[in-house]
Formats: sequence, C-alpha cells, structure tokens
Amino acid sequence: SIALTPQIDLLNRNSFPTGFIFGTASSAYQYEGAANEGGRGPSIWDTFTDKYPEKIEDRSNGDVAVDSYHRYKEDVQIMKNMNLDAYRISISWSRILPNGTLSGGINQKGIDYYNNLINELLANGLEPFVTLFHWDLPQSLEDEYGGFLSPHSVKDFQDYAELCFKEFGDRVKKWITLNEPYSYSNKGYALGRHAPGRCSDWWSPNCNGGDSGTEPYLATHHQLLAHAAAVNVYRTKFMDPLTRGDYPEIMRSLVKSRLPKFTKEQSKLLINSFDFLGINYYTANFVSDAPELRNARASYMTDPLVNCSFVCDGKLIGENVVSDWLYVYPKGFREVLLYTKEKYNNPLIYITENGVSEYDDHSLSLEESLLDIYRVDYHYGHLYYLLDAMKNGVNVKGYFVWSLLDNFEWESGYIKRFGMNFVDYKNGLKRYSKLSALWFKDFLNIKTKLH
Ligand code: BG6
Repeated sequence: SIALTPQIDLLNRNSFPTGFIFGTASSAYQYEGAANEGGRGPSIWDTFTDKYPEKIEDRSNGDVAVDSYHRYKEDVQIMKNMNLDAYRISISWSRILPNGTLSGGINQKGIDYYNNLINELLANGLEPFVTLFHWDLPQSLEDEYGGFLSPHSVKDFQDYAELCFKEFGDRVKKWITLNEPYSYSNKGYALGRHAPGRCSDWWSPNCNGGDSGTEPYLATHHQLLAHAAAVNVYRTKFMDPLTRGDYPEIMRSLVKSRLPKFTKEQSKLLINSFDFLGINYYTANFVSDAPELRNARASYMTDPLVNCSFVCDGKLIGENVVSDWLYVYPKGFREVLLYTKEKYNNPLIYITENGVSEYDDHSLSLEESLLDIYRVDYHYGHLYYLLDAMKNGVNVKGYFVWSLLDNFEWESGYIKRFGMNFVDYKNGLKRYSKLSALWFKDFLNIKTKLH
C-alpha cells in the first residue's frame, strides 16, 4: 500500500497577497560609476576612498562601480527578465546639486539621468522606489559645515528633497528619506570605517578628526530632523499634505548630556513622519553577555573569517548557516517583524533590503561563482519567515533583495559580492545570472505552479 502524505505547496509569488511587490535594491555610489562625468560634484565617498585607500579592503573606489550610469537600460532588461516588480535606487545628491545647495546651481544633466532611468523603469513595468540619501553626502557640505554634524544640513537636505519631489514626484510615489541612518552615524562617526571617516584617536590612529562619544549622536540628530523636514515638505506641498518624538528612555539615561535635545516643534514634526517603514534585515546579534563570546567578538571585528565558526556556533544561536561575515538567522526576521508590529502599532512596512554576500577570493571559476545555492537558501528561508510574520498580522507590502548586481561594497570594495547577478570585473563588467537570479525569476513567474 502507498501512504499518502499531504502536499505542501512550496513558496512562490502566489503564496503572497495580490499586489505584494518584489524588487531588488541598489544605491548610487555603489552602482553608478561615472564619478567625474555629467557634471557630478564629488561626494564624501570620493574623498574617503581617495584619502584612505587602505580603509577599503581591495583599495578600490566607486569611480566606475558597475557603470549603471551608462548601462541602466541593460540592467532594466535584466530586472524585467527576472519578473521583478520594482527597483530601489538612490539619488546621488551631488549629481543633481554638485555643491549640495540650490544656490550652488542645479545640474540638468543629473536630472536628465534620473528622468531617463525612472522612465525606462516605468516603461518596462517596474516601479521606482527612490532613496534620497544613501550615504554619499556632497563633499562641499562636509567642507563647509561638517555635513550632518551641523544643523545647516537640515535645510539643505530639505531643499534637495523638495527639488527631487518636484522633478520626479509625478512618477515616483515611494520615497525613502535616509538609508540606515544608524549605519551612517556609527560607521562614519564612531568607528571611522565609512566616510567621512571620523572617530576618536583611541578607536583608530587613522581618524579624520572626530569624537566617537558625541558626534554619532549629532549626526543622527540632524538626520532625523532632515528626515522630518523633508517629509513635512512632501506632505504640505505635495499633498497627495517616529512615534513619540523623542529618543528612547534607555538612550537618554545612558548618553545623558551628550544626547542632543528636540524642541517641542521638532518633536511634533517627527511624530508620525512616515507613511511606511523600510526595514533592512541581514543578520542577528548576540544580546546576552557571554565572556567567551566577548573575546571572539573582539577578534571577529578584525578577522571575520577566522572567528566566524565560533561566533556562528549553531548551538549558541539556534539554526543558522555561516556566510562570510554574518550568521544567517531567518527566524530572526520574523521576530523583528513581530516586535515592530507590537511596539510601533503595526506600521506599514517594506523590506527595503535583505541579502547575503560571498567573498571573492579569485579561486573560483565563473561557473562556480554562478552556483550560489546558499543565496537561494537564504532568500527562501527569509521569505518563509516573512510570510509567517504576515500571517501573524505584520503589515508588509514588499520585499527588496540586496542586490540586483555585485557592486562596490563600501569598505569591502569589490571583494564582497552581494548580487543575484554576477559582474565580471575583469571582462568589461559583463553581467551573468547566478543560480539565485534564475530561481527568483521562477519564484516570481505567475505561471509557476508546482503542483
Ligand atoms: C546595507 C546598506 O547596510 O547593507 C547597503 O544599505 C550595503 O548599502 C548592504 O551594501 C550590505 O552591507 P554590509 O556593510 O552589511 O556588508
């Protein structure tokens, strides 16, 4: 006799509600290249990679990156071919305002580039999601007043945002003000590992000035105010017209007088200053203090490869898979979503990034590089727990993979590969689908019926 087992539907697009959006994400400095073309002004990442080449693992920069400035049409076809619905890009502030301010002049060629890209996306059935600031601040604002350390940045960001809303707002309906403000402040002002590379001397001998104890808070404070100012402009002038308006209690009691304060008006502006929350989820971290882990963690920061097996110990964290730099913990995705739902009154959420990378040690053949089974596994696991969170009432409307292509991975240069599509840096930046791109294409094919 044959025992019949109940059939379980494997996950695909049809498992998600109608209208749920699937996309991939990118950012200007990591993708565009054409750093000195089309009237673009320099950003702090041009300066940082130039001044501190040793802070980038392979001493590279984003001058050429994956050349999306010239190849955006080809990339849009890759996305269309993958059955994607949306693309998350960021605008390079200094490409449209080379000096960072309106009074410094608008660069029409920059506006044209984004118009062309947005139109190309729409013509191919892809919705643009646009981030205003993905870490590449115009260098002139850094020189003039220290960038986000200064309150002047709030007004300049507001002007820049208003210009973008005016130029692109007729076609772009999903705006993201800031990408990971915490990462920008922490890596740029506490650790000094990202532009503008500021930190205290006790942290690193190679700091571009700075004070790791105060500046990260200031940079975050002004980013928050800049965010609120931009949203206010969007709502009051473009009418289609954070929840408590203050820092968490624990933060106020720990940071004390080093923490900047909001005025009543600023608090008011911050409260509910978003229509949706963008969550970037990659990994999970240990919370409890275990001395043996503390040591591992310290050396992990200097040598991710050596200690990963210890930090990633399955017994300690539960089911996880070791990747090159993080432990993979898909269940944590569900946890963070459920937590956000409970704590912040069930906001509308888009997953604006989720992805995994591999180190390119140049030992693999092209065929081997394309065989990214672990990436398929990673996304399948995360989509499974995302769906599970949604079944438990979390209000998520879209999911963006980081990333469409391999690209310039900040301090890791081109060594870390995050793409579903491989970029052959040695042969004219030719793009090749990895296994994960083909898997995702099939996952997104509405005709896919597994039974
Ligand atoms: C996010 C950034 O932090 O993660 C992306 O928004 C970045 O720009 C991605 O490429 C991966 O970065 P990392 O530093 O975690 O390797």
